[in-house]
Amino acid sequence: MGNDFNARLSEKAAHIEDVLKDFLPTEEGYAKTVIEAMNYSLLAGGKRLRPMMILEAYRLFAGENADEEVVRPFMAAMEMIHTYSLVHDDLPAMDNDEYRRGRKTTHAIYGPGMATLAGDGLLNYAYETALSGAIKGPKLTEYDGDNSSRYLQALMILATKAGIYGMVGGQCADIMAENATDVPDDVMKDTLHYIDENKTGALIEASLMIGAVLGGATSKQVALMEKAGSNVGIAFQIQDDILDITSTAEVLGKPIGSDEKNGKSTYVSLYGMDEAKAKVKELSDGAIDILDELGFKQSFLDELFRYLIYREK
Ligand code: IPE
Ligand code: IPE
Ligand code: MG
Ligand code: MG
Ligand code: MG
Repeated sequence: MGNDFNARLSEKAAHIEDVLKDFLPTEEGYAKTVIEAMNYSLLAGGKRLRPMMILEAYRLFAGENADEEVVRPFMAAMEMIHTYSLVHDDLPAMDNDEYRRGRKTTHAIYGPGMATLAGDGLLNYAYETALSGAIKGPKLTEYDGDNSSRYLQALMILATKAGIYGMVGGQCADIMAENATDVPDDVMKDTLHYIDENKTGALIEASLMIGAVLGGATSKQVALMEKAGSNVGIAFQIQDDILDITSTAEVLGKPIGSDEKNGKSTYVSLYGMDEAKAKVKELSDGAIDILDELGFKQSFLDELFRYLIYREK
């Protein structure tokens, strides 16, 4: 790994930046302000891991030289949905945080009303973008699951994993668990598993699954990618909770101590720092094993999963 990996990671993130720019709405007309707020949050920078996972998973199944046109709209849509989740997550009514991706949060610049709308706008524009890709995109083979169209299957995954049976559900449980008292330890631990798997795991699962579906995977392979995504997603959130304590605002580009401020239960608060770190490793190893089972041992995705175990931001 090392420098070579870091260089490829930056290259890939830069490439995704270009993809995103191709799909940005134009800042004009009566809705100009909300579009500006959408683009402000989207272009603030970010690791772009979810679109990266879509593209890498797609290439694993479709081949190195496969037509990227198939996944580009889905990559942009996924980052729009992820970004909307962050804009809303930072609102005064939720985590009430002032910095994100190294800049003032959207509500700090545009006000909470416009930030709420920017989130709504990003969520909806994500579907406009992905649907338009599905309508205009290159023809694909049939999917062997419960739907004959790979594009429809990918859209279904996107919609479901972002919603009440995914990210929104996880964020709901996250809010409900704030400052929880009188909750037995084992119940809280089960709840936390649900929270992490959904608020963060769901979009990572969706990214790997969408790339796989559009790349020609079978339903069995897609199910394995979902499991790998669940492992990596939960590990990713545990690491996020660790960094909320051990990192700095400068490195993260967002405030530290947000979880304590909001009385959140996290893997660190329930199990301690050492167990949290061990769990990140254990879950990630599980995901790496699944990649191996799929025959993807020598892949960028494998390296990415290993890198994320010790990520510092
Ligand atoms: C932050 O996600 C929110 C979590 C799900 C932990 P990322 O750490 O991927 O944030 P960006 O996209 O790089 O800003
Ligand atoms: C948020 O978890 C996950 C989302 C779905 C946005 P956090 O609240 O811990 O994310 P950060 O730390 O603000 O990025
Ligand atoms: Mg939150
Ligand atoms: Mg937050
Ligand atoms: Mg956090």
